[in-house]
Amino acid sequence: MKSQQPTLSRHRARTLRKTAYALGAAALLAAGAARAAEVQVEVLHYWTSGGEAKSAQVLKQMLEQKGYTWKDFAVAGGAGANAMTALKTRVIAGNPPAAAQIKGPAIQEWGDEGVLLSIDDVAKSEDWDKLLPTQISSIMKYKGHYVAAPVNVHRVNWLWINADALKQVHAQPPASWDDFFKTADLLQKAGIIPVAIGGQSWQQAETFETVALGVGGADFYKKAFVQLDQATLKGPTMVKALETFKKIKTYTDKGQTGRDWNMATGMVITGKAAMQFMGDWAKGEFTVANKVAGQDYLCVPGPGSQNAFTFNVDSFAFFKVKDPAVEKGQKTLASLLLSPQFQEVFNLNKGSIPVRQGMDLSKFDACARKSAADFSSAQTHGTLVPSWAHDMVDTPAVEGAFYDVIGNYWTDDSETAQDAANKLANAAKTN
Ligand code: GAL
Repeated sequence: MKSQQPTLSRHRARTLRKTAYALGAAALLAAGAARAAEVQVEVLHYWTSGGEAKSAQVLKQMLEQKGYTWKDFAVAGGAGANAMTALKTRVIAGNPPAAAQIKGPAIQEWGDEGVLLSIDDVAKSEDWDKLLPTQISSIMKYKGHYVAAPVNVHRVNWLWINADALKQVHAQPPASWDDFFKTADLLQKAGIIPVAIGGQSWQQAETFETVALGVGGADFYKKAFVQLDQATLKGPTMVKALETFKKIKTYTDKGQTGRDWNMATGMVITGKAAMQFMGDWAKGEFTVANKVAGQDYLCVPGPGSQNAFTFNVDSFAFFKVKDPAVEKGQKTLASLLLSPQFQEVFNLNKGSIPVRQGMDLSKFDACARKSAADFSSAQTHGTLVPSWAHDMVDTPAVEGAFYDVIGNYWTDDSETAQDAANKLANAAKTN
């Protein structure tokens, strides 16, 4: 006997089944998203200035759009020394963050500790080897496996200039060191602080790095700071670079002690000072202050370094964690970092250029486009050099020893350039 139940048409039954599946799937997805949202991905970074914080916010928002919770582990302190100290404490306690802003040879040192997570699955599926210059992808690998994701290419050998200050003294952006000091004299006479700097060893070190590149050139720079050649470190060209560097001090102000880099940038933004030697994270500060490149301020390579490019690539290394859900979040983060969308929005805010090759730079300003052109030219001509002052070359021990020599030489007016050069050679042997 046929059932007394009203029989549904076959079509109606199919529609109801489809609706039930769809509702079930939606419920599962919602549950998944809700679960993901409970999954915290803790990220250590040191981007705390105006421009930096805005850039970090981009990453936070994009990760949360993927359904994860960003746990911010921000440690202030330009160039990251404080952040690295905090990271060591957490790793020794067996409680590392999911990801940390680590770059250069320090990635190898963390790899040696056996605490880094391979992200080869992401890198291979997205063909990172094709997306990245080899000189950069090799830094992100430990024993051939990706353990870090790069986010940008910062250029360090920049000189930032307040356009009105330059107009006021009827000068052109200085291309040589003679031009630079002539312009600095005119600015000083006009009552404008010629050079803004913060009295922190990393700021002195990076200023010296740019001077050394401009005075000695890329080959000299590589021999001295990459190969750590003793004769080059204490030779006549290094002495000349140190003398040029020290001469800059006579054009800086007495209020520099302890000044953070972005405060020095603020002096150029307001016109209190005319120039600053700083990597292009400084551009992030001009951007936040609504200043326009080429109008309110100028970006020019450090005198004498026009044909060279000092690169500083920020990257995030990933730590092994117990929770597979967090590991999934780490892989999602790694994939985000090299996505075209993140690469564009983040670098527009950060002042750097995308590390992902082949990106459309039409939304980027004149400084960024010049940086990209100079990066490509420097790659071709072998004048692309890693920034030793920003952790891209030497071990932290050697870099720290260089910081100390340069900082002491800047501060102690009685020390000769030759004495400092001899100390650089000794510092290179630190282990
Ligand atoms: C660099 C870092 C930049 C910026 C700068 C100032 O080492 O790569 O992203 O943070 O320090 O803190």
